[in-house]
Amino acid sequence: MENTLVLIKPDAVEQNLIGRILMKYEEQGLVVEDLHKRQVDRALLDQHYRDHVNRDFYPELAEFMSSGPVVAVRLKGINAIEKVRKINGATNPKESAPGSIRYMFGSDIQMNCVHGSESKMEAERELTLWF
Ligand code: RTP
Ligand code: MG
Repeated sequence: MENTLVLIKPDAVEQNLIGRILMKYEEQGLVVEDLHKRQVDRALLDQHYRDHVNRDFYPELAEFMSSGPVVAVRLKGINAIEKVRKINGATNPKESAPGSIRYMFGSDIQMNCVHGSESKMEAERELTLWF
């Protein structure tokens, strides 16, 4: 069993997609263990995206992630980390597989509806930050 972090990003919350997005994970046998909706502060974002803070796209990403509330979700299941990333789809919705969340609801490489932890270590680190 693994735990992983999903963030439902402000673009998806704004479009009232929380239920439809959670359904995609539940359909694949993942269990919602905990969740909360909140406006994110910059300090938390900088820690969450610590590998991206020096990238040229980070200022715009931080602004987007602060543009409205985010839903943080702790998901549990077999192979949860890899499963979630597959359900989410490629970072750029234009390159994502049909049926994935980003394919169905994503707007562009930045406003792509969801975040999913990349590895077991990152999942543990991120879950501690958000919960
Ligand atoms: P995530 O961390 O959100 O699950 O997405 P990911 O692994 O597929 O993508 P990552 O490379 O970790 O990037 C994190 C988020 O930054 C935004 N981004 N914008 N403008 C750009 O070129 C660009 N590249 C990435 C996206 O919101 C991406 O999900
Ligand atoms: Mg990532």
